[in-house]
Amino acid sequence: MSEGDVVARNLRHTLFTWTAQEGLDPIEIVSAERAHFTDAKGRRVLDLASLVFNASAAIHHPRIADAIARQAQLLPAAAPAMATAIRGRYGEALASVTPRGLDRFLFTLGGADANEHAIKIARLVTGRPKIVTRMRSYHGATLGALSATGDPRRLPFEPALPGIVRVLDPYCHRCPFGWTPDICARPCIDHVEQAIRDEGPETIGAVLVEPVVGTNGAFWGPPEYLPRLREICDRHGILLIFDEVLTGFGRTGRWFAFERFGVVPDMITMGKAITSGHAPLGAVAVSEPIARHFAKNPLATGLTHTAHPVSLAAGLATLDVIREEGLVERADRLDEVLARKLAEIAARHPESVSDVRSLGLYGVIEFKSDSIVKTLGRSALDRGIHVATRWNYVFVAPPLCIEEADLVGGLEIVGGLA
Ligand SMILES: Cc1ncc(COP(=O)(O)O)c(C=O)c1O
Repeated sequence: MSEGDVVARNLRHTLFTWTAQEGLDPIEIVSAERAHFTDAKGRRVLDLASLVFNASAAIHHPRIADAIARQAQLLPAAAPAMATAIRGRYGEALASVTPRGLDRFLFTLGGADANEHAIKIARLVTGRPKIVTRMRSYHGATLGALSATGDPRRLPFEPALPGIVRVLDPYCHRCPFGWTPDICARPCIDHVEQAIRDEGPETIGAVLVEPVVGTNGAFWGPPEYLPRLREICDRHGILLIFDEVLTGFGRTGRWFAFERFGVVPDMITMGKAITSGHAPLGAVAVSEPIARHFAKNPLATGLTHTAHPVSLAAGLATLDVIREEGLVERADRLDEVLARKLAEIAARHPESVSDVRSLGLYGVIEFKSDSIVKTLGRSALDRGIHVATRWNYVFVAPPLCIEEADLVGGLEIVGGLA
């Protein structure tokens, strides 16, 4: 093994996640600029996945990198119980993009612990142990977040956290209740209420859902789904938590995906794009009544690196970049381009593509089977395009700064492989 063989050195002493270690051939990324990264072979790759849906403002933004460096020089560490200037400034800045009354934040290390903290908060505030989640959901890989998850990534760790009640999804393209979009009495909504009644509403602390589903299929259900969910929760005194870890910070053409549905939750969990992938950070936004609960009751949670100054500086600079570069508006404008290109791909490949869906700069090509998808990721990479794939899905979630011509050109290449 030569000194310069980076991949071999990675494999020798470090473990890669979600995979067996033998036979791995990871991409060696060496640099990045806006929506592209460069690998060790000198190949410039257009990233239609924003790394793992996180490098959303840009994969490398000098302004965010500078903010990190400056904060590291000024004050690189603080205990979670300490006040810092950056914590105050970032709290104010984040409050300017969340709804009024949902502007108190617990800072976390990422998305999974944001969801864990939201679950703990729901239990503390309501005194009720159970949490309703959906089958096609992913809430993170720590044990608690994985227990709340519906998708099969939880299976090797079962039995996990008790008290999770899983319900079926508003997945209109493959409706689990057997309805079709044109003839549909919204059984997905009644089903949630029925499950709550069957479990005993007085035992349920919260309903936790992704308003627009992430890696389980990029769907969002009928327009009245979230408003009705809000109503049901209110009727039974249950908190509504939206997991915006994948969809937050402009991805769907709004700061948060729920804004598209006119519903405000009691808590929002955030991560990923919160620092555009430049530093680990997550957050739980809590409503005023929840914040009030903790005026007198201890908030019995917290990790060593809660409110880490360097991560908060990355978060603040990311908000500035998103705002100043108009990235939320840009995702909203490119919504039409992405939708049109996806529709073209579907029309060109009716034999293999079963559906396409998108909102803002978040889309999916759903194939009839997973066989094409198995090789599509590698083939796309060979042609200079990085896409996220899973099961029979190819996801499109580029950095929001992507040039329109790159988006169109990248999708032409992906479409050619469908
Ligand atoms: C919807 C959703 N929630 C939570 C998480 C977990 O976030 P993290 O991996 O930062 O812990 C993810 C990660 O993919 C996600 O997509």
